Amino acid sequence: MKKLLMAANWKMYKSVEEGVATAKELVSLLDKLPEDREVLVCPSFTMMHSVCPILTQKAGCHAGAQNFYPAAQGAFTGEVAPEQLMGLGCTHALAGHSERRHVLGEMDELIGRKVAFGLDAGLKMILCIGETIVERRLGQIEEVLTRQLESGLAGVLSTATAESLAVAYEPVWAIGTGEVAGPDEILAAHAFVRSKLESLLPKEGAHIRILYGGSVKPDNAATIIRLDNVDGVLVGGASLKADSFSQIVLA
Ligand code: PGA
Repeated sequence: MKKLLMAANWKMYKSVEEGVATAKELVSLLDKLPEDREVLVCPSFTMMHSVCPILTQKAGCHAGAQNFYPAAQGAFTGEVAPEQLMGLGCTHALAGHSERRHVLGEMDELIGRKVAFGLDAGLKMILCIGETIVERRLGQIEEVLTRQLESGLAGVLSTATAESLAVAYEPVWAIGTGEVAGPDEILAAHAFVRSKLESLLPKEGAHIRILYGGSVKPDNAATIIRLDNVDGVLVGGASLKADSFSQIVLA
């Protein structure tokens, strides 16, 4: 059974105490996690040590990193290595989130290296892709998604599996704006991503989970996760409160 992956991205929010309190509340609200759902929470590095054990005590609930640097160790001031994160109970990581691409200036090549290094180190990777509003208006959606998928997956074409890799389609214009993509827009983008995955990874492409992200809320989650080729969600703002994220997980 392909489980839906319901992922929370807490971004640069919450003190350690707030993270611990939210994680505890979430685990208790998800007491009856349905068999077909998996939960992932990506908190800040500062609280990994305290929050990971709370999350991972619950079956089907995982902790992930929002970012890392693709090296085992070394002189990389301010960066964090996969091994350091895995030592805290972190099993997953995002790469290529739109804020890292557009605010922090990460390029396709670095994102591809992160996906390859993370998988090799034993992390389960979620490659985030998505077009800006300008690219959408210029009719470049497929071109952008193709470039981001080809470069993001370049180093893992023979190694990635449906177990170790997921892709999150997050149109940049829908992130944090309250402007969720409509069902037809999600269906079209996800069908395109599926076809690209099937051609890039002939064995695994049909099974790799494709998450939707961008203004997912308790009141639109049920519709989104029932669309074809939607295998979960990646949630920012609405994941910060345990109550609202648990409603999304159980939608
Ligand atoms: P949002 O963020 O749910 O606040 O739109 C999604 C994301 O950044 O992954």
